Amino acid sequence: MKKITIIGAGRVGESAAQILANEEHAHEIVLIDIREGVARGTALDIQESATLFGFDSRVTGDESNQAMEGSDIVIITAGLPRKPGMSRSDVLDANLAVIRSITEDILRYAPQAMVIMVTNPVDILTYSVWKQTGWDRSRVFGLSGVLDAARMASFIALETGFSIKDVTTMVLGGHGDSMVPMIHYTTINGIPLKTFLTEEKIHKIVDRTRNGGAEILALKKTSSANDSPAAAVATMVDAVCNNRKRILPCVAILDGEYQHTDLAIGVPVVLGNRGMERVIELQLNDTENHQFQDSVEQVKKDLATIS
Ligand code: 2OP
Repeated sequence: MKKITIIGAGRVGESAAQILANEEHAHEIVLIDIREGVARGTALDIQESATLFGFDSRVTGDESNQAMEGSDIVIITAGLPRKPGMSRSDVLDANLAVIRSITEDILRYAPQAMVIMVTNPVDILTYSVWKQTGWDRSRVFGLSGVLDAARMASFIALETGFSIKDVTTMVLGGHGDSMVPMIHYTTINGIPLKTFLTEEKIHKIVDRTRNGGAEILALKKTSSANDSPAAAVATMVDAVCNNRKRILPCVAILDGEYQHTDLAIGVPVVLGNRGMERVIELQLNDTENHQFQDSVEQVKKDLATIS
């Protein structure tokens, strides 16, 4: 890729820019933030690490969205983060206005780009960008399950003592309390998780996964997670830039899959150089289907407030 823009030079944007530069996913990485000097200072700081990490990406910053001109991928992290005790939906109204304004600028300056939404509530805001752009669903997708599944994998590795390299997890549904960690698609090197952990321990890990973002927010108090979300975004960008055809859980627009259309929610998708190339429908047992439909209803409640 030639150019990737990250809108929002907060902690997630900064961490993501550093990883994307280190991994050289694009020759040009642009950080944009409306706060005077923040994006330029952050970009310069990252650029000055180039020789130490050995990357030739050029990292720059700007206050104007015009700096995204010609981007192949636009990652949106801008907006209000939630505070301890708030749900991701609690920042919907404020962030919807921000995202709608940014989307106008994407249409103006980067009409060929793909958009990866990070700002919360990510399911709703992914839908909003897709509706407002009118683009094919392959070009608008969001960060949710890659992060949630990563958290679940960490908890499993910590609990079992096995290598994280052998832990495979899947999380569906909205990126919130109603998310659906999929136990029967979770294995350790292909061996079902139930071989190693009791129902009770698995249940605790499911709960901790659902609460993953809030747990970090409660500890950090003044900011949400940034390192794991940034690593998750970089994983999605890597799959697109290197056409890896990875199967990853992301917020995607459904077009009949899981018996829903006109809805954005976390499902397994194929990520490659055309973006979100395909939604994969899993066989859900009754419990999983019930939980997934519950999560759909949660997302639809928020969707109804913006349509
Ligand atoms: C999280 O779960 C910020 O939604 C992100 O940490």
